[in-house]
Amino acid sequence: MDRETLPPHVLIFPLPLQGPVNSMFKLAELLCLSGLHVTFLVTDHIHTRLLKYSNMQSRFDAYPGFRLETISDGLPEDHPRSGDRLMEMFDSLKIKNKILFKDLLTSSKLNSDSRRPVTCIISDGIMGYTCDVAKDVGLPIIFVRTISACCLWVFFCLPKLIESGELPFADDDLDTPIKSIPGMEGFFRRRDLPMFCRSGNLSDPNVNLYLPEITENPRAHGLILNTFDDLEGPILDQIRAFCPNLYTIGPLHSHLKYKLAGQSSSSLPSSNSLWKEDMSCITWLDSQPTKSVLYVSFGSLAVMTKEQYMEFWHGLVNSGSRFLWVIRPDSITSDPTDIPLELSKGTEERGYIIGWAPQEEVLAHRAVGGFLTHSGWNSTLESVIEGVPMICWPYFLDQQVNSRFVGEVWKLGLDMKDTCDRVIVEKTVRELMEDRKDEFRKSADEMAKLAKQCLMEGGSSYGNLKRLVEDIKAM
Ligand code: UDX
Repeated sequence: MDRETLPPHVLIFPLPLQGPVNSMFKLAELLCLSGLHVTFLVTDHIHTRLLKYSNMQSRFDAYPGFRLETISDGLPEDHPRSGDRLMEMFDSLKIKNKILFKDLLTSSKLNSDSRRPVTCIISDGIMGYTCDVAKDVGLPIIFVRTISACCLWVFFCLPKLIESGELPFADDDLDTPIKSIPGMEGFFRRRDLPMFCRSGNLSDPNVNLYLPEITENPRAHGLILNTFDDLEGPILDQIRAFCPNLYTIGPLHSHLKYKLAGQSSSSLPSSNSLWKEDMSCITWLDSQPTKSVLYVSFGSLAVMTKEQYMEFWHGLVNSGSRFLWVIRPDSITSDPTDIPLELSKGTEERGYIIGWAPQEEVLAHRAVGGFLTHSGWNSTLESVIEGVPMICWPYFLDQQVNSRFVGEVWKLGLDMKDTCDRVIVEKTVRELMEDRKDEFRKSADEMAKLAKQCLMEGGSSYGNLKRLVEDIKAM
């Protein structure tokens, strides 16, 4: 076949973390379904774990235009790449991966008789160096951010916060309102800024990482966001003033489900997990009453102390609610000893604890009536589309911002940030699962309906994906 008649070839390079890898696989599949050729680039570390725990390989066998390629993140294999050592990964990517990324693009490794050379790069905008490389090698690049638009907008406003003297904080009152973020006046407090803003130190490496967002993101041809217009419309308008070519195409995981439902060939349920999913929780959920279970999970990166863990456990058991709790291996800083009898008894009666869940399936299960979450963006969207109200206990980054929007703007649940005292946990769980359950379920159902409409023909995410594919084809 004449090379020029072959489909355009997109190279997707996600940030090497569970959340971004997960949502970018959905994007890759959506692009494959649209007839594009896709090379998905993952770090060796992610690749090893995907091979071990996901069904990604067999899933993508269905797409002859899909290829997986690997690259080093420059860190030793035994590096944890999580929690408080995450910044080392960013440093290593910027310095070591940049060279390897350029080598890959200038080599013949990505070419073959049945594929065109790469025609467009889609990479995470936080890896700004990929844009430098794209420009060096003369390829168009589209950025993607897998965080919420509301957090991205906070990052865009960091220079303004510093200029206005709102950052660093003048004292330690975290309830002081923030005034210099347009669109967030009146409800946004210091407490709701990303955690690193509390360091009181403008030379914090996180500040260095996120301060250039407002100049970095507009450098690309466009910006893809995993969100939908009815959820973040006013904030998206603010971002558009800097990045006019926005493609809001989320929630990506559901967008893919909708597109697959319209295909004649049914495919395997998708799993891009970096941990082994424990499917026994679905059998357990099957035997629970409708909307009676609180699902508890703090995502792929958050860690908690032994003390925080015990407070949560007491609070959950004392609330009297049924609960399914994901305790990821390595997520508690030291193992608790002497578990009180009432905790093991309460858990045996009403709880189920596992190491990693098939989360999308869990949130879609009829027995789940609430989600105690760290407010990671994927988790938030997965909860939104299923109409599951949330209790938010954010750990870092965008999670502090997301949880404020969940509680105060979208009214989809309760923001419990900065505390996990057992009495508060108990009270908050009762409030969500019993006292105010009708109110939260009503607003969660309404938002879920809007999310679904965005994905249907005529909806904003549907239209934006179509536009993205057309733009890639025209490049
Ligand atoms: C964090 C951020 O908060 C996120 O917004 C940012 O983009 C990257 O860093 P993470 O802790 O991975 O991400 O949370 P989240 O974005 O919610 O992603 C976790 C993913 O893992 C979700 O897609 C969720 O479905 C999946 N998951 C989680 C499971 O499949 N099983 C589990 O038991 C827990």
